Amino acid sequence: MLIKKPSDIRSSEITPKKVCFDRRKFLGGAAALGAAALTGRVGGELLAPGRVWADVAKLNVTVKSPFSTTEKMNSLDEVTHYNNYYEFGTDKYSPAKYAQALRTRPWKVVVDGEVLKPKTFDIDDLLKLAPMEERIYRHRCVEGWSIVVPWNGYSLSTLINVVQPTSKAKYVQFLTALDKESMIGAREPILDWPYSEGLRMDEAMYPLTLLCFGMYGEELPKQNGAPVRTVIPWKYGFKCCKSIVHIRFVSSQPPTAWNTYAPNEYGFYSNVNPNVDHPRWSQATERRLGDFFKRKTLMFNGYDQVASLYSGMDLRKYY
Ligand code: MTE
Repeated sequence: MLIKKPSDIRSSEITPKKVCFDRRKFLGGAAALGAAALTGRVGGELLAPGRVWADVAKLNVTVKSPFSTTEKMNSLDEVTHYNNYYEFGTDKYSPAKYAQALRTRPWKVVVDGEVLKPKTFDIDDLLKLAPMEERIYRHRCVEGWSIVVPWNGYSLSTLINVVQPTSKAKYVQFLTALDKESMIGAREPILDWPYSEGLRMDEAMYPLTLLCFGMYGEELPKQNGAPVRTVIPWKYGFKCCKSIVHIRFVSSQPPTAWNTYAPNEYGFYSNVNPNVDHPRWSQATERRLGDFFKRKTLMFNGYDQVASLYSGMDLRKYY
């Protein structure tokens, strides 16, 4: 990278303060999200194994999902010590250390917007809304690493049917917790807090889309998004929101954290697509956490059944 000395810089080249600040934010965050892709450093650097968090409750998992893959699962240690949770720091190891400060009880989730029956759920009621399933999903991060996790939860559509969206509801927006006391990363203007995401209604209603409360038969560890997150296995990992507090049904495409931040790098759809590279790296291959060799990335992360949701759409344009 070419860095000019101050005396070499003409005044016409000096960036206004606001733009400069925004660019710093951009470089910090974008570089952070891309670090694994660019360095190829995945796994092998895990913190000492073992729980660095207090025991979490067991879940009453009664359903084995037909959507589960039979691929080898990653270990609990692997998936709890290599995380993206920017509210708790931009490196992969900070969430395991710092997220333990997040208080996950009491916890409410507001569900409102274009619905007939808006409702605020206590997390313990939300947990009991449907039988708890085990869904072993592949999960592909935009940075080029992937994991296989036995998530616990039920289809988001179950909750959507309870609140009854109106015909004006075209998208769902997810907003996550923002507590600058406990979230050391959220004290910095890395992203437009709170972290937010969105899905089109048909994507949100699709049976694979999981409202997730746990993993490996226990409540979610905080670094993985306790007490409730989404998992959308055919999309890049950043489309899944951790520690959700608000689900809002809206008539137009909502702003989302990474798309707002770097629209040329992170699209609204963000379906896993080995044929559309990230501007700074290829998406053709991925490294499963703990593996040495890379493997080919599959279209829609191998969840081909979702293809019909996008028929007629140019997935290069709608990346
Ligand atoms: N949710 C919140 N609230 N904050 C975040 O920084 N990071 C996203 C997503 N959800 C993020 C988030 C990204 S970039 C990824 S890859 C996944 O969480 C990582 O999930 P995991 O740590 O459980 O693997």
